[in-house]
Amino acid sequence: MTREEKRRLIEERHKHIREVLKKHGHDILESQKFHKTKHFIQHGDMTVYDHSLSVAERAIKINRFIHAKCEERDLVRGALLHDYFLYDWHIDGKDKGNVHPKLHGFFHPSTALKNANRDFVLTEREKDIIKKHMWPLTIVPPMCREAWIVTLADKYCSAMETLGLHKLKVRAIYIELPDDERE
Ligand SMILES: [Fe+2]
Ligand SMILES: [Fe+2]
Repeated sequence: MTREEKRRLIEERHKHIREVLKKHGHDILESQKFHKTKHFIQHGDMTVYDHSLSVAERAIKINRFIHAKCEERDLVRGALLHDYFLYDWHIDGKDKGNVHPKLHGFFHPSTALKNANRDFVLTEREKDIIKKHMWPLTIVPPMCREAWIVTLADKYCSAMETLGLHKLKVRAIYIELPDDERE
């Protein structure tokens, strides 16, 4: 397979995953309230909005790769809303909604669940995904496979974002372009 073919394949897969996100989460993605997550930073320079989309994409990929047979709609919607806490956790105690500034890691799943319950209709699986995504901090483990997959996807994406490796990956796809043109 040439670099160009490989690049096209990656782009097609990425486009397909984005279509799956839109299919299951269009009301969330179109919601003005969800767009507020664009104003909050999650890790590095990654917004909560971009992080949530990345986690949803990664969760779909893991589910399909290991044939976990998750309910994809719950997986996508739970992943999109898993960090719907709607405050800047970097501003120590000064942002509205950050009720336990020193313990953001422990408390933000319940805040996200409260907000998501208020703004969207959630299934039991989606609630479990949001509530347990910080396991083992939550102590009680996830009760469905969808929540396990999102927990794993979230840890993977968070590590990549914290280390700045998600940018290298994006760059690696597009850096190949000039080489491809020379072939
Ligand atoms: Fe989180
Ligand atoms: Fe997260």
